[in-house]
Amino acid sequence: MKFFIDTADLQQIETAMGWGCMAGVTTNPTLYARTGGKLADFENHMVKIAHLCEGLPVSAESTATTTDEMVVEGKRLAALAPNIVVKLPICAESLAATKQLKEAGVNVNMTLVFNVTQALMACAAGARYVSPFVGRFDDIAEDGIEQLSNIIAAVKNYYLPEHTEIIAASLRTPHHVAQAALLGSDIATVPFDALEKCLKHPLTQQGLASFEEDWASVK
Ligand code: E4P
Repeated sequence: MKFFIDTADLQQIETAMGWGCMAGVTTNPTLYARTGGKLADFENHMVKIAHLCEGLPVSAESTATTTDEMVVEGKRLAALAPNIVVKLPICAESLAATKQLKEAGVNVNMTLVFNVTQALMACAAGARYVSPFVGRFDDIAEDGIEQLSNIIAAVKNYYLPEHTEIIAASLRTPHHVAQAALLGSDIATVPFDALEKCLKHPLTQQGLASFEEDWASVK
C-alpha cells in the first residue's frame, strides 16, 4: 500500500517527504483553509506543493459546481504542474466532467465516496482514483471500515489499479491505516499526526531507550 499525506501544510509535506516512504499528497478546501491561505493564493499554493513532491500525485480540489466549470477549472489546475490530479466530489456533474477530463489527459480523484455504487460509477467514468471515506462513517456511529471493505472488493472485481486506484481517505488513526492495508487498499491518505503515530510503537520506544542505557553502560 502506498502512503499519501492528507494535508496542505507545506512544512508537514516537506517533513513527511523526507521520510522516504511517501508517494503523494491529497488536499481539500478545509485543509487549505487550515494553513491560513486565501482563495486568491490557492493555485500558487498548489504549485508549491507540486514542486515539493515532484513526480508524485498531488490532489487539488475543484470548487466548481457545474460540469463545464469543473472541466475548465480541472484543466487549469492540471496545467499548473504535471503531477496535479483534479479532485472532484462524486455527483452527476462530476461524472460527466471526469469523462471529459480523462479524454483530455487529466487525472481525476473522485472524492466523498461512501458506497459501492458511487465508487463503481466513478471508475466507469474514468476516474484515476476513488477516495472512499472511513472516519466520517465513524463520526455518525457507523462502520467505515466495513464500507471500505465492500468498496475495495467491488472495485477490484472489475478494475485494475492501472485504471483506478483506491485511496482510503478520512483516516484518523493507525488502526484505520492498518485496516486499509489489510483490506488491500492501493493507497492510504493520512494526516500528519496520524502518520507520526503510525511510525511509533511502545515496544520500539522501550527498545530505543534500552539501547541508550546499554551504550551508556559500555562507554
Ligand atoms: C482526502 O482526500 C479527504 O479530503 C480527507 O481524507 C477527508 O478527511 P476528513 O474526513 O478527516 O475531513
